[in-house]
Amino acid sequence: MTSPDAPDLAALRPRLPSPLQEVVDDRFTRRGVRLLLKRDDLIHPDLVGNKWRKLAPNLAAAAGRTVVTFGGAYSNHLRATAAAGRLLGLPTIGVVRGQELADRPLNPSLARCAADGMRLHFVDRSTYRRKTETETLARLLRDLGVDTGTAYVVPEGGSNVPAVRGCQALGEELRGRADVVAIACGTGGTLAGLAAGLEPEQRAWGIPVLKGGFLAAEITGLQERAFGGRRGDWSLDDRFHFGGYGRVPRELDAFAEDFEGRHGVAVERLYVAKLLYGLVVLVDEGLWEAGTTVAAVVTGSPFDG
Ligand SMILES: Cc1ncc(COP(=O)(O)O)c(C=O)c1O
Repeated sequence: MTSPDAPDLAALRPRLPSPLQEVVDDRFTRRGVRLLLKRDDLIHPDLVGNKWRKLAPNLAAAAGRTVVTFGGAYSNHLRATAAAGRLLGLPTIGVVRGQELADRPLNPSLARCAADGMRLHFVDRSTYRRKTETETLARLLRDLGVDTGTAYVVPEGGSNVPAVRGCQALGEELRGRADVVAIACGTGGTLAGLAAGLEPEQRAWGIPVLKGGFLAAEITGLQERAFGGRRGDWSLDDRFHFGGYGRVPRELDAFAEDFEGRHGVAVERLYVAKLLYGLVVLVDEGLWEAGTTVAAVVTGSPFDG
């Protein structure tokens, strides 16, 4: 149901379906594998990549209420939410992990959030960890001077049921276009929706950028909540997190720089670089037979500070 207060997302003119671009890369062609880039990074300059797909349904559901959400000091999700607030005239509040940051100058990512009108609220790490518990959330909202009637809460990373359903369209856009669709995963919400939108014979591959091996259960849980059960043929390869979230060792940076030079596509380091690196290893291992088409989803673009 659309509310009379629902923001006009179409006015932001997202580029949908996002472009699908073939790149010729000898590491793939020598194995007879075609590589396509699904350019979700071109959907919108401010709500880049999976942020559009995850946030758009939430912004519609917020229907003019204050959007309250969560993130770390360099969160892409916080920046995208703040930008959406500016573009659509919605009030936004970002709950930021790390009370100690409150007394320091804002880093470029948080400064951008603030410039876009987001109110920043810093909390200690233990409160942040417990933010999904009913009592902690209620206390937080009270401290912020809002309640469930005036605020719409979006979880960290934006991965809730509307977001997962929104990402189904990504899979639908790729029907009949690739045998394998590969994507970097944080919370797994994008993969959960993507896999549900593909055709039964297509396969989704997720490359987690966080360490821990917990993601398969999370994705299954998200699919159960969004669709009533596991959907699509998907698997994860846990070997390409490079030590964990935010870790970009020199080898990965050099790989990304080389990819940028070869194909003229800016490579976001925290997610997209790990995905592309993983694909180069997987194709070299002979995972896919000759004749396979692999589409890699470019879920973001580098933050220029
Ligand atoms: C650029 C980029 N790619 C991929 C992801 C992973 O998305 P998800 O958390 O839905 O797995 C994120 C985080 O939202 C991201 O910022």
